Amino acid sequence: MSAAPAPVGEFTLDAADFTTIARMTHAHSGIVLADGKRQLVYSRLAKIVRRRGMSGFADYVELLRNDADARREAIFALTTNHTKFFREDHHFAHFTTHVRAGLIAQAERGRPVRLWSSASSSGEEPYSLAMTLLGDDKAAGTRLASRDVAILATDLAPHVLATASAGRYPVAMARDIPERYRRTWMSKEADELVMGPELKRVLAYRRLNLLESWPMKGRFDVVFCRNVMIYFDEPTKARLIERFAELMAPGSFLYIGHSERVIGPATSAFEPVGQTIYRRTA
Ligand SMILES: C[S@@+](CC[C@H](N)C(=O)[O-])C[C@H]1O[C@@H](n2cnc3c(N)ncnc32)[C@H](O)[C@@H]1O
Repeated sequence: MSAAPAPVGEFTLDAADFTTIARMTHAHSGIVLADGKRQLVYSRLAKIVRRRGMSGFADYVELLRNDADARREAIFALTTNHTKFFREDHHFAHFTTHVRAGLIAQAERGRPVRLWSSASSSGEEPYSLAMTLLGDDKAAGTRLASRDVAILATDLAPHVLATASAGRYPVAMARDIPERYRRTWMSKEADELVMGPELKRVLAYRRLNLLESWPMKGRFDVVFCRNVMIYFDEPTKARLIERFAELMAPGSFLYIGHSERVIGPATSAFEPVGQTIYRRTA
């Protein structure tokens, strides 16, 4: 196969500079940028080159080699953050039917309930999970939110976490949210949909690189890791699955993206129980 043509624009991104950026991105985030992504890298980074007043990619790549903050900024810009409320809604249907009642009983017995949205992007996924967990009965949901219940939302990119913690979205996004949850847990302010305090109470947002060490102790009852493994190579995916297995309680649930698979040595620690849904075996 011939190499992808060089992107055409104000600057030149030659093959060598592209390779340096791709290697650096892989080393620090696990994200694989194949040759076909040269145009994407150009369009995401050209604005930074311009803003920094640099003459072109050669100087910028030199900066990335020597400046960790500049490198992080480039990697954040190279993440793809597409998401939506109730994306792959069969996961939320499964959670409602097979998982929720057990977690409510656990919380009522005074035991901690821990869920993790491990590549949360701008928050639509963890808020969807919070609404599904709290349900559509305001009094019961508010009582549940006052128990030891926490949904950890983490992502590599700080700009998306800022949106998640603000909890304000364009009102047009309301169409993705079932009416019974919209009515119960959020309000409308001008052209914004505002996530209510009960949802925010159960959510905690942290920046976390899935490749680095994880500070969390304790066991998770539910892990969502959706539409991030697609960017990783096979060894990175396998290691990630192993690390999830170590942190997940027996009988807990792992939800992955529609085109993702559980692979590697920890596969035997998971039993498939639905479309891209796995239960951690004892
Ligand atoms: C396509 S979004 C998926 C969002 C959500 N899980 C969903 O399925 O709708 C992928 C997210 O993974 C994050 N990401 C990429 N590499 C990561 C890493 N090494 N550690 C943590 N998050 C990462 C990106 O910043 C991005 O927000």
